[in-house]
Amino acid sequence: MTDNTPDTEQRPALVVDFGAQYAQLIARRVREAGVYSEIVPHTATAAEIAAKNPVALLLSGGPSSVYEEGAPKLDPEVFELGVPTLGICYGFQYMAQTLGGEVANTGLREYGATDAYIPENGSSLLAGQPVAQNVWMSHGDQVARAPEGFEVLATTDATKVAAFANEERKLYGVQWHPEVKHSDHGQAILENFLHRSAGLAADWNSDNVIAEQIERIRAQVGDARVISALSGGVDSAVSTALVHKAIGDQLTAVFVDHGLLRKGEREQVERDYVASTGVRLITVDAADTFLGHLAGVTDPETKRKIIGREFIRAFEKVQRDLVDEAKASGEKVKFLVQGTLYPDVVESGGGAGTANIKSHHNVGGLPDDLDFALIEPLRTLFKDEVREIGRELGIPEAIVGRQPFPGPGLGIRIIGEVTRERLDVLREADAIAREELSAAGMDQAIWQCPVVLLADVRSVGVQGDGRTYGHPIVLRPVSSEDAMTADWTRLPYDVLAKISNRITNEVSEVNRVVLDVTSKPPATIEWE
Ligand code: XMP
Repeated sequence: MTDNTPDTEQRPALVVDFGAQYAQLIARRVREAGVYSEIVPHTATAAEIAAKNPVALLLSGGPSSVYEEGAPKLDPEVFELGVPTLGICYGFQYMAQTLGGEVANTGLREYGATDAYIPENGSSLLAGQPVAQNVWMSHGDQVARAPEGFEVLATTDATKVAAFANEERKLYGVQWHPEVKHSDHGQAILENFLHRSAGLAADWNSDNVIAEQIERIRAQVGDARVISALSGGVDSAVSTALVHKAIGDQLTAVFVDHGLLRKGEREQVERDYVASTGVRLITVDAADTFLGHLAGVTDPETKRKIIGREFIRAFEKVQRDLVDEAKASGEKVKFLVQGTLYPDVVESGGGAGTANIKSHHNVGGLPDDLDFALIEPLRTLFKDEVREIGRELGIPEAIVGRQPFPGPGLGIRIIGEVTRERLDVLREADAIAREELSAAGMDQAIWQCPVVLLADVRSVGVQGDGRTYGHPIVLRPVSSEDAMTADWTRLPYDVLAKISNRITNEVSEVNRVVLDVTSKPPATIEWE
C-alpha cells in the first residue's frame, strides 16, 4: 500500500522534491500544461531517475541554504543525463552551485512580490517575456555568479542572476516561483520550458486517463468480481464509476449509511448516482450501530477509531454476504476499489524530502489487512483532474463538484458527544450554509466549508421575546490547493450575514454563528 509508483506507462516530467510544499504545486502546473508529471524525492539517484525515462526534470524550491550542513542534495550526475532541466528557487541555486557557479548570502533577502527585469534574450525559456514583470520570491541566498556556459536571463534589484540558461545542455533556472499564481507570467514560463525548451507536446488529458485506466482495470480483473466502498465523496464516486465503465456488473458498490451523513446525501447516492452510472448498489443501514457505539464518547481520536472500526465491521458483513452469494456461482470477491489520489500516494510514500503534514486519510478508513487486492484507478491524479474525469463519466455535478467531506462525517464536526438530536441540528445548519454558499456562487472560491456544532458550549441569546441558552455554530470556510495548507476564505459579509440569519432563525437550538479566521497551519481544517 505504500508503493510510491503510480500505475501508468506515461513518460513523466519528474519534479524533484527538495522538501518544500511546492513540489505538488509544480507537478500540478506541469499537468495543467498538458504534460504528465510525477514527484520524486531528491534522494533518488541519477540511475533511478533515468530508469523512469523522464521527458523533463523540474527541481523544486526548499527551505534550506545550499551551503548549510545537511542541506538536501541531488546526485550531480542528474545534470549529465541530457534531460531538459529547470531549477526553481533552491533547485536553481543547487544547480548553480553544483555546476561551478557561486551562491552567496549577501544579506539581501527577497520575500513576496518582486520586480524582475528580463532584457532581450534568445532563450527558449524567457524569450518574448515582458521586460519588467512581477514575480514571487522567497529566498535569502543569491546566485552571485552563473556557471560557465550559462547566459544570465533576468535580474532584480537585489539579485544579479535571477534566471539563467544553457541552451546547448538544456539546463535552465529561475530564482522566483513560476508555479505560484502571484508570479505574473509563471505558467507561461513553465509552458515555455516544457513545450519549447524540452519540445514536449501538450497531449496529456483526462480522455487518455480514462482510456488507459479502463484497459488496465480489465487486464487486472479479468472476469472476477469487485466491490467498491462508496462514501458519497468525489474520489470514491469517480473511482467507482471508472471501474464500472470498465467491467459493468462485475462491480458491486457498497454504501454504508453510518448516520453521520449530511442532509440529502444518501438520496443523492442511491438515486442520482445510481441513475447516472447504472452501478449496482448495496446500502448498509448502520446508523443505530454507529450511534450506539459513539454514545458518551467525546474524545476526537476515540470517535475516529470507533467510526473506522464500525465501518470495517459493516463492510466485512457485506463481504461475507457477497462471498456467500458468489460461492453459488463459484466465484470469490477479491478486488476492492479505492479512491486513493496522488497526494495520498506522495504523502504516504513519505521518503526524504516530503513533508508529512497530515496522516493518510482513506475512504472510510479501510485497513490494510482486509483480504483484497486493491484497484486504485485515481492513483496518478489530483483532485481537480478527478473532478474532470467524473464529469466526463456523466456523474451529476452535485456529486462531482461537492466539497471534500471526511470519512467520519459529521461525527467529527460535533465538538462533544455525538447524539441523534445534535446530528439533526448540525445537519440543518450545514444544509443552510451549503445552500447559501452555492446560491452566492461561492463554490469555486472555497475549497470546503466545514460547519461545526459546539455542542458543549452554550451562550445567552434573545429570540422572539424570550431569553435563550443555545449552542454556537462555527463556519470554517477555507481556500486551499490541496488541503495540506489552507487559508480562511474572505467571504463577502452579506453572504455570511445571510447564512447567520437563516441558521439562527431556522434552527431553534442555535442562537449564535461565529466565523473561524485561522489558517492551516496552525489550525487544521476540521475541528477534530
Ligand atoms: P485536516 O483537518 O487534517 O483535513 O486539515 C484535511 C482534509 O482532509 C479531510 N479529512 C478527512 N478525509 N477521512 C477523509 O476521507 C478523514 O478521516 C478525514 N479527516 C479530515 C478534511 O475534510 C480536509 O479536506
